[in-house]
Amino acid sequence: MKKSLCVLAILLVTFHLGNSQSSLVTKKGTDKKWWKEAIVYQIYPRSFKDSDGDGVGDLKGIISQLDYIKSLGVNAVWLNPIYSSPNDDNGYDVSDYRNIMKDFGTMEDFDLLLKGLHQRGIKLVMDFVLNHSSDEHEWFKQSKSSRTSPYRNYYHWWDAERVKPNYRYSLFDVNHDAWKYDSSSNAFYLHYFSKKQPDLNWENPTLRKEIYSMMKFWAEKGIDGYRLDAFQFAAKDTSFPAFPKGFEKNFVQYYAMGPHIHDYLKEMNQEVFSKYDVMTVAEGAGNNFQDAHDLVDADRKELNMAYAFDAIDLAKMEGYDFIKFKESFTKWDSVFAKKGWLSIFLASHDQARIVNRFGNASPEFRELSSKMLSTFLLTMRGTPYIYNGDELAMTNAGFQKISDYRDMSTLNEYQYQLNHGGDINQFMKRIQFECRDNSRTPFQWDASNNAGFSTGNSWIQVNPNYQMINRAEQEKDQQSVLNYFRKITALRHKNPALIYGKYSILDRSNPAIFAYTRELDDKKFLVLLNFSNKVAKSNINLDVSKAKILLANYPIPSKNGSLAPYESIVYQLK
Ligand code: NOJ
Repeated sequence: MKKSLCVLAILLVTFHLGNSQSSLVTKKGTDKKWWKEAIVYQIYPRSFKDSDGDGVGDLKGIISQLDYIKSLGVNAVWLNPIYSSPNDDNGYDVSDYRNIMKDFGTMEDFDLLLKGLHQRGIKLVMDFVLNHSSDEHEWFKQSKSSRTSPYRNYYHWWDAERVKPNYRYSLFDVNHDAWKYDSSSNAFYLHYFSKKQPDLNWENPTLRKEIYSMMKFWAEKGIDGYRLDAFQFAAKDTSFPAFPKGFEKNFVQYYAMGPHIHDYLKEMNQEVFSKYDVMTVAEGAGNNFQDAHDLVDADRKELNMAYAFDAIDLAKMEGYDFIKFKESFTKWDSVFAKKGWLSIFLASHDQARIVNRFGNASPEFRELSSKMLSTFLLTMRGTPYIYNGDELAMTNAGFQKISDYRDMSTLNEYQYQLNHGGDINQFMKRIQFECRDNSRTPFQWDASNNAGFSTGNSWIQVNPNYQMINRAEQEKDQQSVLNYFRKITALRHKNPALIYGKYSILDRSNPAIFAYTRELDDKKFLVLLNFSNKVAKSNINLDVSKAKILLANYPIPSKNGSLAPYESIVYQLK
């Protein structure tokens, strides 16, 4: 979880192979699993495709694009929350976990979506928001109604006549205060996110049972995976001890991996995951490699994957430290080399666009750098997560006016800055670069009104560059970012070495080039990526003169270890 504002026609075959080989072990000792072979495509339903002209994306819209999704070469879809919600935080505030958000459609639509995905050999991973619910959830309404309500202990309450509770920082609150006073029972409730997202009390076994039963409800429908939202924060020390001054600057250190977190995950595994063929991934990986390991070590029977934020968090308005970036991916790989499995991602609905953050969005380099970044994500060891629109190299919208922003956390922070004499110009510059609304603008389907996203007024403005950057244009061009993306997904599916193979970094201190090999059994690949806007020379001590080039993002790939700006080359060495 990010502390600042702007905190997936070989498929079918590969996918079935993945399943049937689920008990096979490669020579190097890696257990084969379908979810390790998955390329996960993240869909932000609100902004993907609107079928009924109300300006909000919906399930029927996604259904209308299933053949497009399949054409990408992805074999799993992760959907952001689609449950009933008053949308304070675009669905991350759930008011009914067993129903579909009105804006998105009906349970019949969901059933059709799931069927349509499965018919195409694509798995469905759902987003489970289990650290908090909406304050409009029936549980919370009951809980706040009286101190003696049977639902009282579903949440964290602190009676107001006691000594004031120790300060807790809230990520999204307009005052950054996680304790909100509620007059109906004269008590404070805890909310790490917005005041409309009260934290659930995982110490309560009745609450835990209700959650597992709800999770099973979705598994029985046939979903294939669980993404656990903000789960590292679910366990708390409910004596709420004081934290040292300035603790909020390291939110994860103080809030993550609280007491019993592993007990809850083991219980969840036993009650839910173990009963189905599902993949599980947690947002956040704790504070250190041990935490991450403990979450995903198969012997511990908790989760399959967790994703860490250290590399993704490096990107700042001013740029990022490329050596640290390489080191971060390299260290994480080594931690999971023998046990556990990594998630590889650089973008989601919580970050601005990947090409602005890690590539170059200028007209000269946008396409090249986007192809280079896709090459990176799809040639690393670990399950890759691709955020919708990145296959087109969509860019940041960079809204100028605060009234164009929709993200509640940004709007609350704006208010906070105003109230506390913050530098508003600086704040506006920062959100233009990093606000998560940048990646939430409507998917750019074509050059028609609203980029073909909706016939109505879209809930958030379409990026004005949609006439140039859109799917329809890119379908016509064999060299487009989109068609390159299809080639790199196909390459990964065809070559188990790119999935399971040993990763070794080369030329570690090179300030511009990320060079590594991937090796499995008798196959070896070399990946060369220039992350800079200048010609760069690699120093890798490998003779590539006879190697086969499998994929390159320039029509004539460079030779002799020198790479053009944002050039990427995948070689097969043996
Ligand atoms: C993480 C989700 O990815 C983010 O979008 C959301 O705002 C918070 N968790 C709170 O649920």
